[in-house]
Amino acid sequence: MAVCEQHKELYEELDAYIEKVKDKPGMLIGVLHKAQELFGWLPQEVQEHIAEKLNVPVSEVYGVVTFYNFFSTKPKGRYQIKVCLGTACYVKGGDRVMERFLEELGVKAEEVTEDGLFSVHPVRCLGACSMAPVVLIGEKDFYGKVTPDMVSKIIAAYRRGGSQ
Ligand code: FES
Repeated sequence: MAVCEQHKELYEELDAYIEKVKDKPGMLIGVLHKAQELFGWLPQEVQEHIAEKLNVPVSEVYGVVTFYNFFSTKPKGRYQIKVCLGTACYVKGGDRVMERFLEELGVKAEEVTEDGLFSVHPVRCLGACSMAPVVLIGEKDFYGKVTPDMVSKIIAAYRRGGSQ
């Protein structure tokens, strides 16, 4: 399979990781985590590559990937924007915040922007209902009491390369 330079490096890093852990029990999940961390998601080629390297059937790899919902088989943006649509956030306007993100970025929910930077994901309660409506970007950039008018400023901060 032809892979671009950047992907070549990612595969090399993945292979180095596999080399380190391949004899440990239960390493498949760890390897899949590593692959998702590197690629942002788990393309089919990557799953096949892992199966080959670990010498396990591809069906076993698919099985694990589809069983756990933290594994993604669809591409995601570098910055994953999770907009809470749980009840507390919804009644405080979470749906309007969601719409504004989609509008500003010109994507549908779960789609990735053309530059690969953003994807927007509706999620259930993020456990911070008193701050509703809430938005989580990546794993730890948390925004509370978000209004639609704050959305373009939030996006602009990430375009510049980081949270505001
Ligand atoms: S409903 Fe959104 S944080 Fe709880």
